Amino acid sequence: MTTFTESGQYFDPLNPAHTPDPDDLMEASRKGCPVGQVSDILYTVHTDSDVRQIFDDTTHFSNRGNFSVGPEDVQLPVTVITLADPPDHTALRARLLKDLAPVRLRKLAPKVSAIVEDCIRTLPKSGVVELYADYVHFIPARILYSLIGFPESAWHQVQKWSDVVVARLPEPAHELPEFISLTEYIGSLVEARRLSPNDRHEDVLDNLCFAEAGEQDMPTPEVVLHIMQLVTAATDTTRALIANCLFRLLDQREQWEALLADRALLPNAIEESLRFDAPGQFMVRSVVEDTTVGSGPIAAGKKVYLDIQSANHDEERWGEDSRTFRVDRPNASLHLAFGRGIHACIGAPLARIEARVAIAALLDAYPDMVLTADAAWVKCEGALIRRVQEVPVQLTGAGKL
Ligand code: HEM
Repeated sequence: MTTFTESGQYFDPLNPAHTPDPDDLMEASRKGCPVGQVSDILYTVHTDSDVRQIFDDTTHFSNRGNFSVGPEDVQLPVTVITLADPPDHTALRARLLKDLAPVRLRKLAPKVSAIVEDCIRTLPKSGVVELYADYVHFIPARILYSLIGFPESAWHQVQKWSDVVVARLPEPAHELPEFISLTEYIGSLVEARRLSPNDRHEDVLDNLCFAEAGEQDMPTPEVVLHIMQLVTAATDTTRALIANCLFRLLDQREQWEALLADRALLPNAIEESLRFDAPGQFMVRSVVEDTTVGSGPIAAGKKVYLDIQSANHDEERWGEDSRTFRVDRPNASLHLAFGRGIHACIGAPLARIEARVAIAALLDAYPDMVLTADAAWVKCEGALIRRVQEVPVQLTGAGKL
C-alpha cells in the first residue's frame, strides 16, 4: 500500500493540483499503485477490474457517503437514490425508472428533436461560436425539465438556479440561495399538482406526487429532493458528454470526417467519448464489512474512491492504445462511465439519445465546421465532472436546418 502524499507520483483526489490534468498520474497509479491510501479514511482504486468488483459488491460496500471524499458525509433530511442502499434503494429506483422506461423515452423523442432544433436555430450561419455556452449548455437541461414537468415559462429561471447549484457539487449546496429558491419553486409545483389529482401529465412530478398500487406516498419535501437529485444527476453529466465528444471529434478531424461519411459510427463515437472522458470521474463507496481489494485489506469504516476515469483507460482491458480516442474502437461500450450493478445510471439511454441527436444535428447543419486555431482541451473546474471548458468553432456557410 502506498501513501500518495509521500510519493507524489500517483493520483491523489485530495490534492487540488491533480484535478485539472489527472490522466498521467492515473496511469502511474494503475501501473505502480492500483490500490492506494490517501488519508486515514480514504482509499483509491484505479483499475477496471477493481472498480468493477466494487460496483458489483453490495455486501461489503454501501452508497452511504457517496461523492464525499472526506470523513464527513452530507446529511440530508431524506436519503436520495445515489446515497441509498437496499431495500430503500430498490423501491425508489423502481419508481424513478418508470419515467425513463423505453415507452416514455419514445414519447419524449419528438421533444428532444424539437429542443435540439430550437437550439441549433439560434446559431449563426457562419462565424466563431463557443459551442458549449451557445449550444450544448441548454440541451440536457431543457430535455430534463420537460421530463420532470417544469412549465416551459419557468425553464430560464430554473436553469439559472440549477446551474449555480450544480457548479457547487460535489460540495454541499443546500445553503445556497439558489438551492433554496429552486427547492421552494419545486415544492410549489408539487403542491399545485396535488390539488388536481385527476389532471395527469405522465411526467416525474406526477409519478412522485401520486403513488400507484404498492407504492408509498411521498411527502412534499421528499418529492422535492428526489427531483433535485435528478437535476444534479442529469444536466452537467450529459452536457459534458456532448461537449467532450464534439471536441474530440473535431480535434481529430479525420474522426469527424469518418462520421460525415458514415453516420452509423455515431453511437460508437458516443461510447468512446464516455470511455475516453468519463463525465463523472469518480464515485465513492463506504466499507461496511472488512474486505480485500486487489491484494490489500480495507477495514470496515473506511471509504473507497472508485476512479472511473482511470478504469476506462486501463491498458489491461483496452490495450496499449487505451489513451487514444478512436470512434471505431470495437469494445468501447464496456466502459464504466454509467457505473454498474444496482446503482447503474438509469438515465443512460436518455443521455445517449440526447448526445446522438445533438451531434447529428451539427453534422447535418455544419459539416465543414472546424475548431478555432487556439482551441485547447482545458478541463472545467471541480473534481467530479470532466468536461472540456470550451468548444470554440468556426462555422462556415451552412445552417442547413
Ligand atoms: C452522460 C451522462 C451521464 C453520466 C455519465 C451518468 C453517470 C452516472 C453514474 C456513474 C451513476 C452511478 C452512481 C453510483 O454508482 O453511485 C449514475 C446514476 C444515476 N444517474 Fe446518471 N449519468 C448520466 C446521465 C443521467 C441522466 C440523463 C439521468 C436522468 C434523467 C441520470 C440519472 C441518474 C440517477 C437517478 C442515478 C442513480 C441510480 C441509482 O443509484 O440507482 N443520469 N449516473
